[in-house]
Amino acid sequence: MQVMNKTVKMKIIIGADHAGYELKEYIKSQFSDGFEWQDAGTFGSESVDYPDYAHPVAEAVSENKAEKGILICGTGNGVAMTANKHRDVRAALCWNEEIAKLARQHNDANILVLPARFISKELAAEIVKCFFTTEFEGGRHARRIGKINL
Ligand code: RB5
Repeated sequence: MQVMNKTVKMKIIIGADHAGYELKEYIKSQFSDGFEWQDAGTFGSESVDYPDYAHPVAEAVSENKAEKGILICGTGNGVAMTANKHRDVRAALCWNEEIAKLARQHNDANILVLPARFISKELAAEIVKCFFTTEFEGGRHARRIGKINL
């Protein structure tokens, strides 16, 4: 699946726990053209703790070392809760394309969170495509996201 212009690859960091491991691998395989992947793990289906993977991804986005990120766990909630502790990180749990689109248009979400145990891998790929091709609308939404950081 092609999303971006092949010559300008977007730097994306991706991470998952054991519940999201297979989906992480699938997404990387489907979007090898437009994205330059940085993989923060996990690298197998052995049980791990999701904060150990969510923190490095969120840190890279917060510090502008990656343009955007993707985080995956069983429900998406654990990695989202962890990532949103980081300054300037707006991690959005998305389970359909419309929510992914709005997360970009209204929230300027910079980390896409996927609930691996509740969506098919095909739908996940459509959500990824939608998230990374939708622009932030700015305007009143910029004022609102400016009020998120503590
Ligand atoms: C792992 O079993 C599961 O708890 C984790 O993937 C996630 O859903 C937590 O929020």
